[in-house]
Amino acid sequence: MDDEIVTRRLRFLIEKELPRYWNDNCPVKTHMLNAIAILAPAFERLAITSVLPYKNHPVSASLKTQLAGFIGQESAHGSEFIRFNQILKHQGYDTKKLQTANVRNFKWLSRKLSPKMHLSLTLAAEHLTAIISDLLLREPEWLANATPSVAALWRWHAIEEIEHKAVVYDLYQQIGGGYFKRIAGMWLVTQMLGSILIANFFHLIIKDKLLFKWSFWKNLWHLCWGKPGFLRKLFRPYFAYYLPRFHPWQQNNLAMLNEWKKLLTNTDVLEEMVGALQKTTVIAEH
Ligand SMILES: [Fe+2]
Ligand SMILES: [Fe+2]
Repeated sequence: MDDEIVTRRLRFLIEKELPRYWNDNCPVKTHMLNAIAILAPAFERLAITSVLPYKNHPVSASLKTQLAGFIGQESAHGSEFIRFNQILKHQGYDTKKLQTANVRNFKWLSRKLSPKMHLSLTLAAEHLTAIISDLLLREPEWLANATPSVAALWRWHAIEEIEHKAVVYDLYQQIGGGYFKRIAGMWLVTQMLGSILIANFFHLIIKDKLLFKWSFWKNLWHLCWGKPGFLRKLFRPYFAYYLPRFHPWQQNNLAMLNEWKKLLTNTDVLEEMVGALQKTTVIAEH
């Protein structure tokens, strides 16, 4: 669909003294994204290592270029989430313990699985990331009241996830990956990422002593299943993956993507998103 996968190595200068509930002053909205951020570095690495065995595989020239872009983007994401997670650590969360567990599980998995199954996991996870990213950009209110530097980080990530959403899928097809392995990958990824994200999320909630608060559960229900219903809205695009003729660009969000991409080429806006934040007094030091 869109041939160009550009690596944009942006450094988001996020205030070290970031408000604990940086997203709309809401613990649920904040920790849902924090849980993903904690998982992200290990996961981005798993994605990169899954495509490396196919580096010299005879695939089309355009896909080869896109793969280089994919690796560049995912490694840039990993670095930024490592920096972001240091801020969570500074807030008192034991991100190291959670990340060590995530890395251990992923390493174990990548050793056990065949390269093709490993790739199938990545393409399933890329679909999950792409549909979450679509929701974050399509409904800007999810980040409307977030601290601007963190909102910028998530939007940049979402833009690039949509941009490269079909790269691993196309690779899988070009190396002759089949339907059943693709579905098995999604089944495994759903169990794996689901349980890791739930564990990360509740670690943060328990640390904040919110577990026995009625307002927390009420809020969680509304945000996930009621209104606005984050998980409810992901249901349909999630199941689209199980169709035999599925392709990531069947959810054609190119027009929306191009609108958002203008932000990344407009230097004034970029300055506002990233550069101007350097003027804030305390920045994350890594
Ligand atoms: Fe990523
Ligand atoms: Fe990705």
